[in-house]
Amino acid sequence: MPRLNRKDEHILIRLKQKSGLADFSDIHFVHNCLPECNLDEVTLETSLLGMELRSPLFINALTGGTPLSKRVNAALAGVARECGLPMALGSQMAALENPLVEETFKVVREVYPEGLIWANLGSYATPELAQRAIEMVDAAALQIHLNVPQELAMREGDCHFEGVRQRIKEIAAAVTVPVIVKEVGFGIAREQAHLLIEAGAAAIDVSGRGGTNFLAIESRRSRRRLSPEILSWGLPTAVSLVEVLDAAVGRAAVMAAGGMFSSLNIAKALALGADAVGFAGHPLYLLLKQGRRALVRAIQRLEQELRLIMLLTGSSTLEELRRVPLVITGFTGEWMKQREISVAKYR
Ligand SMILES: Cc1cc2nc3c(=O)[nH]c(=O)nc-3n(C[C@H](O)[C@H](O)[C@H](O)COP(=O)(O)O)c2cc1C
Repeated sequence: MPRLNRKDEHILIRLKQKSGLADFSDIHFVHNCLPECNLDEVTLETSLLGMELRSPLFINALTGGTPLSKRVNAALAGVARECGLPMALGSQMAALENPLVEETFKVVREVYPEGLIWANLGSYATPELAQRAIEMVDAAALQIHLNVPQELAMREGDCHFEGVRQRIKEIAAAVTVPVIVKEVGFGIAREQAHLLIEAGAAAIDVSGRGGTNFLAIESRRSRRRLSPEILSWGLPTAVSLVEVLDAAVGRAAVMAAGGMFSSLNIAKALALGADAVGFAGHPLYLLLKQGRRALVRAIQRLEQELRLIMLLTGSSTLEELRRVPLVITGFTGEWMKQREISVAKYR
């Protein structure tokens, strides 16, 4: 049962780590003192991959496979239902290998029958396994995760990375729902975003550096020390977001994730052009440390503040927020310059 033990260890170690936030301090809004809209008219409604959403937020992939993860999945599904958000499952490989643990994932459907649930597998999956994962929970989309640094840091990690693009291509061509390709906290760059879109990804979830750090988690699990430089490997979420947007605009949806549990950062990510924003580690922490109500309240607060920020930029819809002027300074601005990503288009 190494896979199952691992899933519980991920949860328990994540709870001991500080919940970092993504760094969007280089992205600045310009205050609008004449907004010409009313707070009660500001709406977070949006559409994503053909799904109509009341808010651009979603609960990202976390867990499944064990009694603890069944409880977590049931509670998260309850929160997702109360807040009306989509929810992604943790990797379903455990249930494909052992049908006895399917219930730890299916519980989400029981709690949230009408919900938008996203299936999840690693890039080692075959089209047949991918379709089974989708059908297990009647998923509206399939996430495929990329996690090379994590595999490298795990004692039991699979260090064979050839053929991933081809497998994604075969899966995207075969399955009945849109495929979202995601990282797990190290970000995605423009070059790979191009390749993933060519392979058939309908959306890319950048899951960049700033929140959950799987190198730190795996180094603690395996009791193998990694040097601080290696522990901070990865593209910061804001940088990864501008990289992926540069490749994806008009071709694939883009999701910002990786330390995204601040209303201001969420607003900035949406203003840059993200179609949706996901969070995983911080909601897990709040749920297990402070309980379900605290998590629901935190999500409601994020949404209320997001509306305030939209008003302060003169935006009553997310479409309008995407058109407000932004100033991009510092490290992110310099990164964009060197990578020839237009800063001017955000002005
Ligand atoms: C305990 C834990 C387990 C996770 N398991 C998965 C997984 O099974 N599949 C996956 O795609 N991502 C998994 N993730 C990664 C998240 O979906 C997300 O991409 C990443 O944690 C960055 O977001 P965050 O900073 O909000 O946590 C996991 C994250 C955590 C904290």
